[in-house]
Amino acid sequence: HKILILNGPNLNLLGKREPEIYGHETLKDVEDMCLKVAQGLDMEVAFRQSNHEGTLVDWIQEARESFDGIIINPAAYTHTSVAILDALQAAEKPVIEVHLSNIHKREEFRHTSYVSKTANGVICGLGTQGYDLALQALSRLLSSR
Ligand code: DQA
Repeated sequence: HKILILNGPNLNLLGKREPEIYGHETLKDVEDMCLKVAQGLDMEVAFRQSNHEGTLVDWIQEARESFDGIIINPAAYTHTSVAILDALQAAEKPVIEVHLSNIHKREEFRHTSYVSKTANGVICGLGTQGYDLALQALSRLLSSR
């Protein structure tokens, strides 16, 4: 199976950005970990990051044709983007939403997620391990189909 892993705005700064909240690992570390985990699950992954909403929408549209499932950390767009929600709904692929931090423990504006309205599952608060768990969940989901 082919999995698209998408990361939203400011996640390119992972490791440097508010490390007390998001930890010291970089996005490259997360990518390397995902490639390793995927290999063990006999899955292929494409790992991408953009600060631009429209680019994320374009990539989600690409998943319609080219991927079997999507893992997305939409970052701040989680709480604002109807466009990303619509694109995920149109993709008709299983979606796992991941957040490094526990968004429910933080500011009120982080408590709602548009993406959760379509995600098969949501993992938050477990740091980078969330990506590992999301890959395992998608692997099971796809092989039980
Ligand atoms: C985040 C949580 C969001 O509220 C925030 O805007 C982010 C990262 C997380 O991974 O914890 O940029 O998605």
